[in-house]
Amino acid sequence: MTDFSNHPVISDRMARLRCRECAPSDFRRYVHEIASLLVFFATKHFRVKEVEVQTPLTRTSGKVLNHPVVLVPILRAGLGLSESFQKLLPEATVAHLGMARNEQTLKPEIYLQKLPGDLEEAEIILLDPMLATGGSALAAIEVLKNQGAQRISFVCLVASPEGLGLLREKHPDVLVTCAVCDEGLNENGFIVPGLGDAGDRIFGTT
Ligand code: PRP
Repeated sequence: MTDFSNHPVISDRMARLRCRECAPSDFRRYVHEIASLLVFFATKHFRVKEVEVQTPLTRTSGKVLNHPVVLVPILRAGLGLSESFQKLLPEATVAHLGMARNEQTLKPEIYLQKLPGDLEEAEIILLDPMLATGGSALAAIEVLKNQGAQRISFVCLVASPEGLGLLREKHPDVLVTCAVCDEGLNENGFIVPGLGDAGDRIFGTT
């Protein structure tokens, strides 16, 4: 797991994002800025192949991505991250997984599943700003693996130690990139100090 809480720009944007006075328009901008920085780290394991390139001056070799890329935002809040990833990886396919956490049981319920057919060869980046109990991420990874996914990364902004522990235990092959790991969960399953409900704050539904 890689955590970038000591990165000066990420920590600056994270402090602004956490602030309860931050308006949805600013919230979306800070999410976008952090996500754009995380793209660099979340793709460093991607596979490449050598190609020949004719520059205006000479022939040389270059390396290009050697596999499809599939972005999988977990709705709704994951949409806030997928926009940034799509800008930097415009060739990626975007699949959607709709999940809502039942506030009584804290268990995720799937309400939408739209995945491409050929996940076997793809590098898959699962996107959700929050990893709280880990139930949503776990359910999403299971859906993807059942469809043949072999290479999955999970990217979030704020993780809890509980969620990270669960992912590590159940899916040690999944690479996790998060901007920050917080103290833990409260009795309602919310990350503390956290930033509240990311979906509501992104879409202004509070
Ligand atoms: C939040 C969040 C994650 C999930 C994290 O989504 O965006 O998807 O809860 O919790 P977990 O790790 O305990 O499963 P929510 O259910 O609030 O839906 P939303 O994105 O539509 O707001």
